[in-house]
This record gives sequence, structure tokens and C-alpha cells, in this order.
Amino acid sequence: MPLKAYDLTGRTALVTGAASGIGRASALLLAEAGATVHCADRDENGLHETTALITRAGGTARPHPLDVTDRARLAEAVAAAGRIDILAAIAGIMHRSTVLETRDEDLDRVLAINFKGVLYACQEAARAMIATRTPGSIITMASGAVDAANAGLLCYSTAKAAVIQLTRTLATELGPHSIRVNAVAPGWIRTPMTDRRDAALQDRTEAALVRASPLGRVGEPEDVAHAVLHLASDASAFTTGQILRPNGGVAMPW
Ligand SMILES: NC(=O)c1ccc[n+]([C@@H]2O[C@H](COP(=O)([O-])OP(=O)(O)OC[C@H]3O[C@@H](n4cnc5c(N)ncnc54)[C@H](O)[C@@H]3O)[C@@H](O)[C@H]2O)c1
Repeated sequence: MPLKAYDLTGRTALVTGAASGIGRASALLLAEAGATVHCADRDENGLHETTALITRAGGTARPHPLDVTDRARLAEAVAAAGRIDILAAIAGIMHRSTVLETRDEDLDRVLAINFKGVLYACQEAARAMIATRTPGSIITMASGAVDAANAGLLCYSTAKAAVIQLTRTLATELGPHSIRVNAVAPGWIRTPMTDRRDAALQDRTEAALVRASPLGRVGEPEDVAHAVLHLASDASAFTTGQILRPNGGVAMPW
């Protein structure tokens, strides 16, 4: 039996980016805490693996194959869920290019997925929460990249900074409806997103991180999932408009 404040029995969550990494770990943990989890992602195979993992562990999950840039599909997923208590808007992509190399289409694509995709999910979920008078919790996924300048990360960190402003603004607008809105800004986490980079660079990055971290290790998706669970649950009932940073005590750049 989970600690009562973390017990999500009877609650319904929508998790975007649930096919992989932090989104999958968050979907699994929210289900373990008792929530029915609606899993959304454009990666259908990964999505079905996540829902199968949840079901096998005794939880309840439904897959929603969709692209978060498609507002209508997000609205359908919210409607299919019937009621939404928790939104974890986690889907996102990495993009690297220097400012001088950045093309319009790079910026448009990263903003469309990493910012507008979060905005659409928040709007659709919040409308449903208000309509059903649900005292919900919305969690957005930002990044430690917003706290510093990082060469090559203009598009990514700009989109994540916009997510922070969305989170703070929404928190002020939705508070009167008893809806809390918080961001998670992880440091470097070992997921397929960070694995896609070249191996030598990754080894160097991880070694530098381990040296810099007071905890002496790299972050895992479950470290972020626990931050998501905290913000989703009644344990954070008086927390809104905040940024939680699971980063092993290391601010970027390290
Ligand atoms: N891994 C890190 O170090 C790290 C650090 C800070 C923030 N984040 C953020 O955490 C989130 C999850 O990242 P991750 O590391 O788990 O990466 P990941 O690549 O493992 O997972 C991202 C998921 O988002 C999905 N996705 C991407 N674009 C989509 C779209 N248009 N529509 C629907 N689904 C889409 C992918 O299919 C994938 O399943 C991202 O927002 C990322 O920016 C990651």
C-alpha cells in the first residue's frame, strides 16, 4: 500500500512521450501508484511495449498513437480518457546546431514539438479538468539547459525556456480552478535521447558528469519519474508554478 499522499488510485493520467525514456518510466511509476495511464506517443511499437509493461505489472494503461503537434488527436485522447487528473507532457526531441547553422525549419520543428506540443496538451487537458471540476496536476518537461548557455542548443533551450514560461503562466491562470502546474527540469539523464549522440562524446560527457556530481553518478529515467510522481500526487498539494530539478546536484554546463 503506497503512502496515502502518493496513492493515485482512482486517478487518470495522460502521459505524452510514453514510448521511451523518461515518459515510459513516468507512465510505469504513475501506474504503479494506482493511476489509470493513457499513454501517448508517435512511436507505436514503443507505446505498445509501455502499455504491455504496465499491464503485466498489474496496472491499467491505454495506448494513444499520436503526434503531439496534432491538437485534434490530443483532444481525442483526452476525450477518450473521460476524465484527466494528471497530465505529464514529456514528449520532446533533441536538436543540435550552432546559431549560425540554424535554419528556419530546425527552429520551427523544435518549437512545434517541444513547445507547441506541450502547449496543446496543457490546453486540452486543462479544458477537460475545468469542465469536470477536477483538481488536477499538470507537469511539463523542461530541461536544465534553460539555466545556462550551451553551445549548439539554441533551438532546444529556447523551446524549453518557453515551456517554463508556459508553466508559470498557466499556474497563475489555473490556480483558481485548483489545478496545479509545475515543470521538471532534469539534468543529463541516460535515455535513448542522450544515447543517440556519438559514443566518444557520450563517454566524455558522462565521465565529466560523474566527477561533477556530489552523488557521483549519472541520472536514470526513474530519477525523473519520481519527480513527476511527486508533482502528480497530493504530496505536492501546495506546490504550483515551480521547477523541480532532478540533476544530481549538477547545473549545466558541467
Ligand atoms: N534525457 C535527458 O538528458 C533529458 C534532460 C532534460 C530534459 N529531457 C526531456 O525529457 C523528455 C523525454 O526525453 P527522453 O530523454 O526520455 O527522450 P526519448 O527520446 O527517450 O523519449 C522521447 C519520446 O518522445 C516521443 N516524441 C518525440 N516527438 C514526438 C511527437 N512529435 N509526438 C509524439 N511523441 C513524440 C518519442 O517518440 C519518444 O518516445 C524530453 O522532453 C526531453 O527534452 C531529457
